[in-house]
Amino acid sequence: MALVNDHFLKLKAGYLFPEIARRVNAFSEANPEANIIKLGIGDVTEPLPEACRSAMLKAIEEMGNRETFRGYGPEQGYDFLRNAIVAHDYRSRGCDIAADEVFVSDGSKCDTGNILDIFGQDNKVAITDPVYPVYVDTNVMAGRTGEPDDQGRYAGLTYLPVTEENNFTPALPTEPVDLIYLCYPNNPTGTVLRKDELKKWVDYARENNAIIFYDAAYEAFITEDDIPHSIYEVEGAKDVAIEFRSFSKNAGFTGTRCAFTVVPKTLRGTTSDGSEQAIHPLWNRRHCTKFNGVSYVIQRGAEAVYSDNGQDQVQTLISFYLENASLLRAGLESVGITVYGGVNAPYVWIKTPDGLTSWEFFDKLLSETHLVGTPGSGFGASGEGYFRLSAFNSRSNIDEAVERLKKSLG
Ligand code: MLT
Repeated sequence: MALVNDHFLKLKAGYLFPEIARRVNAFSEANPEANIIKLGIGDVTEPLPEACRSAMLKAIEEMGNRETFRGYGPEQGYDFLRNAIVAHDYRSRGCDIAADEVFVSDGSKCDTGNILDIFGQDNKVAITDPVYPVYVDTNVMAGRTGEPDDQGRYAGLTYLPVTEENNFTPALPTEPVDLIYLCYPNNPTGTVLRKDELKKWVDYARENNAIIFYDAAYEAFITEDDIPHSIYEVEGAKDVAIEFRSFSKNAGFTGTRCAFTVVPKTLRGTTSDGSEQAIHPLWNRRHCTKFNGVSYVIQRGAEAVYSDNGQDQVQTLISFYLENASLLRAGLESVGITVYGGVNAPYVWIKTPDGLTSWEFFDKLLSETHLVGTPGSGFGASGEGYFRLSAFNSRSNIDEAVERLKKSLG
């Protein structure tokens, strides 16, 4: 009989968002009249920018002509997109990233999981807690952890708490680690790391031969100065960091799918016999073997993000969602709720009132206000007592949600 990957059996019941969907569906079936507003999963609601749609339409026309039709593209992405990424996201910020260090893909979620393919089994992995669940679950699937304890913390992982006690700034690990996941602006807390704080991590990685997986999917939401948009703004980061970026949250590509991962050629790991090995060729090999590239049409749409019109339209989207976040913050604060995040990120991270657990608060909101958020404990043990609201929604839904929150919590 075929053997299964036993490590999957260590995973907690379900991935967080399907689990929430299951509970919401059950509530909805029992209360069909309830007008449920979902502020749970961070999925965009506003239409794709016109600049992207026009570019995609033009590309579709090209696909309809023998002369301009394209089949398989380069697995790593078309040069037009890789060059645009480098010019606008890196060179403009003084980061010396080359186009062939950029790998275009269909999502950062996939890439943050897939990257583990090229790293050895015995690496010690550090994650912040709470954290985007994909980082944990993919390490469990890959067999890099033991069983979870009763708080859901897996043996073998190094958890770095981020709570209001440490101002949502993780402390450097006190035990040796090899791979470190950092996500800034942070999902789920919506908080940020300033440049001097991020520099501590880069210095740590350089001193300890560790590699940082830097998920910057929400960088477009940064509004304050002195917050790096890319880890490569920190000197020396090219030798120790892989960066994940996405068009999902800035340009609304969650359904369209386009992202990219930067693997600098100076990044090195070690083989089991102790010799140095560049990471870039390994990721290139993995990417080309298991992936056939993002479609031409979608890459043209992504390229248009960097056009003048595209930049204006993306900025309008970002400002819209940030205004939603600000309305949520103001509404919650007006009824005495402690709120974090939402200034440089589309997520608002609240302290649950009256000592309720995260899931108790989830149930209260769902039953009393028909609002759905994400329990902080679903992102990790240190998220207990917190709750995440996503600002990705229409203005009318946000206004309605704020009214309901004020009524229920005031
Ligand atoms: C979230 O709600 O945390 C995000 O939507 C997850 C994701 O981008 O995959």
